[in-house]
Amino acid sequence: MSPRPSVSLLLIFFLASLHAASPVDGGSTTNIIHETCKKCAHEDPNVSYEFCVASLESNPYSHCADLRGLGLISIKLLRHNMTRTRAYTEKLLQSEKMDPSVRACLQDCLELYSDAVPTLAEAIRAYKGGRYDDANIDLSSVMDAPSTCEDGFSETGVGSPLGRRNKDAFRLSAIALSIVTMLSRASH
Ligand SMILES: *[C@@H]1O[C@H](CO)[C@@H](O)[C@H](O)[C@H]1NC(C)=O
Ligand SMILES: *[C@@H]1O[C@H](CO)[C@@H](O)[C@H](O)[C@H]1NC(C)=O
Repeated sequence: MSPRPSVSLLLIFFLASLHAASPVDGGSTTNIIHETCKKCAHEDPNVSYEFCVASLESNPYSHCADLRGLGLISIKLLRHNMTRTRAYTEKLLQSEKMDPSVRACLQDCLELYSDAVPTLAEAIRAYKGGRYDDANIDLSSVMDAPSTCEDGFSETGVGSPLGRRNKDAFRLSAIALSIVTMLSRASH
């Protein structure tokens, strides 16, 4: 038996494994989301990589967006989130059976979210106009709403009925803020 066949067989295996390891076609379209989230999570401890990827991927336009597009998507996701939390808080307040201290907290939260929603509209205008520093200020102030809301409940000793929503809003704010910070740095 000559050694040649086994050498060429090895070569075939080698080439086949190279092929298997190469990225699948279209891999680059989701890479922008993964790359951006990796960078955000690395630079900002308030950003969770998994949450970032899941949130951005929930928007079908993310797959063909650049960093600037992803930034806008993240702010719009946040606005949608906060708008729904505001509506949910309003609905909770319509319930008659409620601890007065919980009601007071919910009132505060409603006010916080009611201020945050128009501030986000302002952030979007600033962002679209390339005024990243203004967008940054708006987003930073909006980011305080969920944590201030949550702090109110911790003082009453009663569990927060908005816990999950506050957490989501805070994490989405961190993503938006992180992307805007990157763009702002790139534009200076
Ligand atoms: C992370 O969140 C905390 C609490 O709101 C805040 O004080 C801190 O500045 C945030 N970090 C960054 C990098 O934004
Ligand atoms: C807020 O955003 C998160 C992440 O995208 C999502 O899981 C959650 O359902 C949203 N909540 C509301 C009330 O829209």
